[in-house]
Amino acid sequence: MTETRTWVLKKRPTVDIEADTLQLTEYTLPALKDGEFLLRNILLSLDATNRIWMSDWDSYLPPVDLGAGMRGIVVGEVMESRHKDFPKGGLATGVSTWSEYVVSNGAGLQPLAAMPGLKTEDAFGVMAIAGPTAMIGLHDIGRIKKGDTVVVTAAAGAVGMLTGQIARLHGCRTIGIAGGAEKCKWLTEEFGYDHAIDYKKENVEARLKALAPDGVDVHFENVGGAMLDAGLHAMKLGGTVVICGLIASYNSTEPVPGPYNFREVIFKRLRIEGFVCLDYMAKYPEYQQQLGKWILEGKLKYRLHVVDGIEHAVDTLKLLYSGGNHGKLMVRLGADPK
Ligand SMILES: NC(=O)c1ccc[n+]([C@@H]2O[C@H](COP(=O)([O-])OP(=O)(O)OC[C@H]3O[C@@H](n4cnc5c(N)ncnc54)[C@H](OP(=O)(O)O)[C@@H]3O)[C@@H](O)[C@H]2O)c1
Repeated sequence: MTETRTWVLKKRPTVDIEADTLQLTEYTLPALKDGEFLLRNILLSLDATNRIWMSDWDSYLPPVDLGAGMRGIVVGEVMESRHKDFPKGGLATGVSTWSEYVVSNGAGLQPLAAMPGLKTEDAFGVMAIAGPTAMIGLHDIGRIKKGDTVVVTAAAGAVGMLTGQIARLHGCRTIGIAGGAEKCKWLTEEFGYDHAIDYKKENVEARLKALAPDGVDVHFENVGGAMLDAGLHAMKLGGTVVICGLIASYNSTEPVPGPYNFREVIFKRLRIEGFVCLDYMAKYPEYQQQLGKWILEGKLKYRLHVVDGIEHAVDTLKLLYSGGNHGKLMVRLGADPK
């Protein structure tokens, strides 16, 4: 019999995630049936969208049921198996729950081949969500070309830090927007952005105009609100606005105002397109292979922010909405396989 701890959704948050939103609950897992395996979770990815899954919004996935284990993206080790596609000793990744152990029939999970030269946390942190999201947003939605000027918001975050570097690897000029001097320093000194704008101190609209006097070709939005408004003003005729995320609005109960500069969509003949990375799973192998190659060649830098212990998952998630995370945010649920 395997004992596990799982975060269970008890209450839908109205504004911020509160102490009674989720409860850490102990369970004894049932014995395996045919077609099932026991997964020991190693790492849990914490993502801005977790807050959306807790709400009852009509979004791209059904809300997590009250009383159910909180949904999350994990990587884990198969400890026992009665499932032919998930052999004992292998790794599996995908959609699971915030649990130390789960019994799974494989739904939402894929076997994961070990990546020679890469630690599990590097491979998972970059390649599970953030890296493919940056690639999809830049290529499939933004359709970047060499010489484009690309603006990225939340540029020092998990998706943003990779987006700027990938755009630069394709010959684009990059401007990153982040909060605070320290994160702006990472942008130019670590992640190779050509320019950084500190939205907490600077007038973003004026700085964008100064840094991109001929206009921005691709605006990669992770935040929304005032950031998107400023970005719309700076666009070039025929430019593209990629809506990857709108984190500024995920905790709001009131309708989020704006964008006030939406008329620019007409004046500048803009294309605005949102996307959900899960719709592009067919592209994952190609993008993951490319990301892995860049990492091993030293062309892609990243920061991981890993907190130990399932008991810290809820408090750690909140860092995303305050800007307190310093890299791709994850919780370590268990040790790497021996
Ligand atoms: N479309 C998709 O399929 C997809 C997939 C993955 C992620 N996303 C989206 O991508 C975005 C980034 O996600 P991530 O996982 O990479 O998180 P992240 O950027 O590592 O962390 C979130 C960052 O957002 C910034 N932020 C939070 N609230 C803000 C506010 N009110 N105003 C301005 N900035 C704010 C903070 O950076 P500062 O310290 O710089 O303020 C914070 O560190 C999110 O919106 C997420 O929903 C979308």
